Amino acid sequence: MSAPDLSTEFLSLPLANPLMNASGVWCTRVAELEALLDSAAGAMVTKSCTLTRRDGNPEPRYRTLTGPGLAGSLNSMGLPNEGHGYYLDYAAQHDYEQKPLFFSVSGLTLDDNLTIVAAARDAVLPVQLELNLSCPNVPGKAQPAYDFAAMDELVTEVASAYRRPFGVKLPPYFDFAHFDAAAEILNRHDHLAWVTCINSVGNALVIDTANESTVIRPKDGFGGLGGDYVLPIALANVNAFHRRCPGKVIIGCGGVRSGEHVFQHLLAGATLVQVGTALYEEGLGVFSRLNRELARLMESKGYSRIADFQGALRTL
Ligand code: DHB
Repeated sequence: MSAPDLSTEFLSLPLANPLMNASGVWCTRVAELEALLDSAAGAMVTKSCTLTRRDGNPEPRYRTLTGPGLAGSLNSMGLPNEGHGYYLDYAAQHDYEQKPLFFSVSGLTLDDNLTIVAAARDAVLPVQLELNLSCPNVPGKAQPAYDFAAMDELVTEVASAYRRPFGVKLPPYFDFAHFDAAAEILNRHDHLAWVTCINSVGNALVIDTANESTVIRPKDGFGGLGGDYVLPIALANVNAFHRRCPGKVIIGCGGVRSGEHVFQHLLAGATLVQVGTALYEEGLGVFSRLNRELARLMESKGYSRIADFQGALRTL
């Protein structure tokens, strides 16, 4: 048998493989974005941007977690970014032939979001706009996605301002009533073309026993949890929205550090799969390793292309 074909499509755009960075990792500065373009990732996304540049929260604000067999991360970056114009400038000179580019938007207010969305619309670029509804790390700001009325208003206003296909980044939900409520809002918008599940598990607390202290400075140590700890939560959310939003594409994110994890996200219904903590820890070489491991697993199962198993999770 010839080597499995990892190529895929996102909204009719061809990709060499289903992997991309998770927003926030390796995507804040142009030098990082150019390195992502040269990497083995099939697509890429920019750091979530605000209207204007931000320094973010005080350091230490990212911590690598190592435990008994578990790898992960805790972060409270606080949206350090160069401001929306910087990322739109990058988007204006990105090589879309090489790979698709996603533009992540996380304005601090409804008005800020609408200003950024209007700038993106007026730039008329082939960039994929993703509205981040789930930043957990700005002190005093709740996540829109955990307030369904706020989420409905934001998605409705952005949809009518943008008038083109766009996506949303969701936090994890933990109850079927919440999966249902979120999906009902998303399904009312035909222009809402994809859903990225999940952002970090917000407001986790990691404790250093020896020092009897927290491990990051912002928000008294509370931060977004990523890595191994969140994989089953990510798979649940991918599959929950895959089941509830049949017309929409799902992008999986959470806990991916092996080809088997990529396979599980695809099986649960993801079309693309993002890598956050493992990219931060391992660097850009993670993409070629994950592609190699995914291809080897597919070959061992007799699959020659992703469509042979994508979304085909069996239940008992
Ligand atoms: C940050 C973290 C997030 O999870 C997110 O979605 C946006 C921003 C941050 O802390 O910078």
